[in-house]
Amino acid sequence: MRLHPTGKFDNSAKASNLIEVKPLAAAMGAEICGVDVPAMSDEQFSEVRDALFRHKMIYFRGQKLTHADHEAFSLKFGPFAEDAYTSGVPGHRNVHPLIKEADDRSKHVFGEGWHTDSPFLPQPPSITILRSVQIPPYGGDTIWCNSALAYDLLSDTYKRMIAPLKVHFSMRDVLKSVQENSETRDNPMGRLASIRGASELSEDLQRKVQGSFHPLVRTHPATGEKALYIDASYAIGIEGMTDEEARPILDFLAEHLVQHAFTCRLRWEPDMLVAWDNRLAVHQAFNDYQGFRREMYRTTVVGETPV
Ligand code: SIN
Repeated sequence: MRLHPTGKFDNSAKASNLIEVKPLAAAMGAEICGVDVPAMSDEQFSEVRDALFRHKMIYFRGQKLTHADHEAFSLKFGPFAEDAYTSGVPGHRNVHPLIKEADDRSKHVFGEGWHTDSPFLPQPPSITILRSVQIPPYGGDTIWCNSALAYDLLSDTYKRMIAPLKVHFSMRDVLKSVQENSETRDNPMGRLASIRGASELSEDLQRKVQGSFHPLVRTHPATGEKALYIDASYAIGIEGMTDEEARPILDFLAEHLVQHAFTCRLRWEPDMLVAWDNRLAVHQAFNDYQGFRREMYRTTVVGETPV
């Protein structure tokens, strides 16, 4: 089903006194101007956080940050989350490098399928903050989808049907695909690829493959907004249903969620800082810049048990 509904889109900026908010697309996203991130006051941060919850994804341009600045901004939202894929850069264990070298010909790139971050964890990260250092001359964009808008545009009958459901999230299919399609390298995908052929997964990976069950419709803890909590990468089943019963629901929702009408797409520049709320949006990276280097750093903020 493809919807191009009218009357439901409101990505307008709310009045703010200390920052300027410029909406990016009809469905979501906004640029925040007038802020020097390392020098941000608590009052400015409060408006930034409100803008994030409203627009689901926000970005700043022209922020030449150190890893320490990046950490400090992230900590304003809350403590660091467990990162499921990397263990940080030296001296900054919570700043995770996402670097793809120009000569990496892997068929996979980190974050390539539509996903919300690490939903297979019992308390998935609430917010992700990604900083750009080196960007290819074309490609390497990121695209997001507003999962609250997607929920809102379901029929009332479908909403009632899915209200009690819990989704089984697991790293199973991503792990399999990465092992089949990535080069062995010192990056998140490359390290997973390197365990190809291992007779047994580590305890940590077994935990992530076993995964977690979370409500299919999530309520945002700060705003009360409801959103679909599902994706095409990690959602592998529905609690209490057979695979045959669950598959049509998962497929329909994963497809409904990512309609063009619900998205915004960012053309990165160096020195951008982007934050998104994993409870209200899914996102996807592109593997379309072969021959060029892309260097990014990521932090994640610990989330609550989804309700
Ligand atoms: C991610 O999924 O966190 C990475 C997104 C990107 O590299 O564009």
